[in-house]
Amino acid sequence: MEIQLWREILTPYDLAVKELIVKFEHLMQEHRNQGQYCPIEQVTGRVKTIASILDKAQKKRIYISEIEDKLVDIAGVRIICQFVEDIEKVVEIIRRRTDMEVIKERDYINHMKDSGYRSYHMIVHYEVQTLQGSRKIKVEIQIRTLAMNFWSTIEHSLQYKYKKNIPDHIREKLMNAANAIIALDNEMSFVRSEIMDAQNSFQIHTKLVSDILNNLQNLYGIANEREVLKIQDEFYRIYELNDIDQLNRFGRELDIIAEGYRAQSFSMEET
Ligand code: GTP
Ligand code: MG
Repeated sequence: MEIQLWREILTPYDLAVKELIVKFEHLMQEHRNQGQYCPIEQVTGRVKTIASILDKAQKKRIYISEIEDKLVDIAGVRIICQFVEDIEKVVEIIRRRTDMEVIKERDYINHMKDSGYRSYHMIVHYEVQTLQGSRKIKVEIQIRTLAMNFWSTIEHSLQYKYKKNIPDHIREKLMNAANAIIALDNEMSFVRSEIMDAQNSFQIHTKLVSDILNNLQNLYGIANEREVLKIQDEFYRIYELNDIDQLNRFGRELDIIAEGYRAQSFSMEET
């Protein structure tokens, strides 16, 4: 086939990869904007080169005419997570989306490949709009942790160097490294729950303070100014104590005071 024709074939794949990167990056942004922990650390993508498409087709004995059907990784997106637990979260997000349809899943996390490779793979149907109209193509999404990515990047370079025949003694080292990656990801899972706890208490604190400030602001309109200033000084004092229990108690007391003033101002309106 002519190179020009290949370029045309690859156009929708290129578009799909670009669109998906934008979409997943936007998802990261949404998490950040809402102060939520994001299960995605990084997104990358690529379209397979013509040379490696031909290479793989030859190895797998796929006819040129079948390539788009049988080579599922012409368009590839890789999602890197900090922690193993995040992978399941990302998988769920992808399953729920209506702009991609999952047609195959491969769990190489719970079922490590003989090489030591670990990753979660999803093949999805994704629709793009091109000059030629709408096209539904396959995209391979690989989801893995930073540590798994580190391992597979190194192993991939070695495969390249040894033209897929990695010597046994290096294979053995790679297997040891793969086991070390499992242990590392497990250790990091403990850190994750710490991060989650910290994040959670941060959010509770933020909500509490903003409720208190709201109440105070409303009091300015209805309560005696001296009294409001006194309450405000008390708030600053307690805030600086950095004690969530005291802040909670203050918040509840302020609720009662504010409620009292509201009731009072209502009854005044009525008379
Ligand atoms: P290929 O392995 O790509 O020929 O296709 P397959 O049909 O066997 O699918 P598989 O799920 O095994 O692999 C899909 C992709 O996962 C590959 O193209 C690689 O990017 C990655 N992969 C799979 N196995 C390994 C491995 O042992 N090492 C590394 N580094 N990557 C792997
Ligand atoms: Mg394979």
